[in-house]
Amino acid sequence: MSETSRERFQSTLCRARKIAVLTGAGVSAESGIPTFRGAGGLWRRYEATSLASPEAWQRDPGLVWEFYNHRRERALGCAPNPGHHALAQLEAWWREAGRVFTLITQNIDGLHEQAGSRSPVRLHGSLWQVRCLSCESVTENRDVPITPAFAGSGSPDPEAPARRFTAAELPRCRCGGVLRPHVVWFGEALQESDLAAAAAGVEGCDLLLVVGTSAVVYPAAGFVPMAKRHGALIAEVNVEPSAISGLCDVVFTGGSGAILPSLLDVTPARAP
Ligand code: APR
Repeated sequence: MSETSRERFQSTLCRARKIAVLTGAGVSAESGIPTFRGAGGLWRRYEATSLASPEAWQRDPGLVWEFYNHRRERALGCAPNPGHHALAQLEAWWREAGRVFTLITQNIDGLHEQAGSRSPVRLHGSLWQVRCLSCESVTENRDVPITPAFAGSGSPDPEAPARRFTAAELPRCRCGGVLRPHVVWFGEALQESDLAAAAAGVEGCDLLLVVGTSAVVYPAAGFVPMAKRHGALIAEVNVEPSAISGLCDVVFTGGSGAILPSLLDVTPARAP
């Protein structure tokens, strides 16, 4: 009798010495954080992706901060879901067994860390870090609102009155410089160290699990063909086909919060 996708995935998983996981916005959807290209990807009349750019910042840094302040406010009210917890548990089992586990995320919401994932590779930065445009220092910042001027701002309602924030109302570094969100915007390069850590995690992995990404943004999506080239089993969890589904050996269709807990309930020692 032919092996089911689940059997194939779990038998490869329990034998795997090195696994990598790539996540996108879909893994946080069941926590209440909308994805970028799905329903809810709009903030007022803006595509979420259009505000995540140096051009948008040049045009109106106050508007960009209003958008990120809104995303921080929302993320603060969200908790990791069973999908995040299942990945953190799998990592713990793999580390305990002295095997290699690398979580690579495109998400900036911090929910993987909240679920107990240890040092995920954050390709696109973090909502909870800011960077000074003068001294370039990067600091943790959990102030919501980011400055008092942003209190009550950020409504996603397209009819919400547009406000112009003055330079004095923008968040400032101790050096006096303006702080921007420490996230990677479109057209900006990723941190070399994060790219190297992700590549090292994918290189030679036995299994790559791809969860909740449309896989249209590079270099993140490029890790899938990279793993495929060296013969890793490629598995995907998504509610619908993505740009890399064709590269996958096994595909599990549905919400990651519903699928991952039982799919990943495999310890290195115990064969399924
Ligand atoms: N479980 C699993 N997958 C889901 C779920 C869910 N509950 N809900 C939605 N998805 C899937 C969607 O089908 C889609 O394929 O998650 C994916 C989300 O895709 P995008 O919105 O494009 O988000 P992502 O792939 O993370 O975007 C990549 O683009 O906007 C930039 O920097 C931003 O990191 C982001 C990058």
